[in-house]
Amino acid sequence: MSEAPARQDPAALPDAEVRARSVLRYRNRAAGYDATCGPTWPIRERTVAALQLQPGQRVLDVGCGTGLSLALLRDAVGETGLVFGFDQSPEMQERARARVATAGWSNVLLFETPAQGLRLPEPVDALFFHYTHDILRSASAVSAVLACARPGAAVAIAGIKYFPWWLAPLNPWVYLKNRGYNGAPGELRTPWDRIVSRLQDWQITPVQFGMGYIGVGRVAEHGAAAPDADAGP
Ligand SMILES: C[S@@+](CC[C@H](N)C(=O)[O-])C[C@H]1O[C@@H](n2cnc3c(N)ncnc32)[C@H](O)[C@@H]1O
Repeated sequence: MSEAPARQDPAALPDAEVRARSVLRYRNRAAGYDATCGPTWPIRERTVAALQLQPGQRVLDVGCGTGLSLALLRDAVGETGLVFGFDQSPEMQERARARVATAGWSNVLLFETPAQGLRLPEPVDALFFHYTHDILRSASAVSAVLACARPGAAVAIAGIKYFPWWLAPLNPWVYLKNRGYNGAPGELRTPWDRIVSRLQDWQITPVQFGMGYIGVGRVAEHGAAAPDADAGP
């Protein structure tokens, strides 16, 4: 008798498979994506503010999606600054490019690429991660993104996580919510734990009754260049 196939843990999937799942998800989600982002808008604003960007700085919008954060980031670095953004989803990037073209921003540069293969023309002063769970769970993606930042660069990360224990019965719902947006939806206890060893001054603030977080820190001296020692899937 043949054994039933074991259910695969999405968190243990190789990068390529996680990425393929995500690209498919956003093929279907892109058109309606912006309409779902209203409830997290204050978190987006807080996370941009946490970077304390200065005019003239260069900031990277990691997994920028349809480009909803680009205006906030551009306002913060001004005309003399530079905003880079990248995303692997062609449908999400198409919308981000349209946004940039409509606004006529010449200092916002977009790249359609997986995080794992990211290269930028110059190192950035700040990294902005807004609901980019799949990227944070991939050691090779984290390495590639950090390699684009100068040591000491500001980092701000917002995302979803499991509720604390007193609201734990709601966590299956959190998992399902996250699954709609990610190829590897699990690992929601400490979703930041693949990047924090490369950062300094890391601080977390829970938001949304503990179902979300905003984390801030700086790229450590060794952080940008660290080899991919912990490279998992
Ligand atoms: C939840 S959306 C967030 C989009 C945007 N940051 C925002 O806040 O509106 C996650 C985005 O990450 C992108 N993404 C997921 N895995 C990626 C990867 N490995 N490389 C590049 N982009 C990726 C998806 O295509 C999607 O646009």
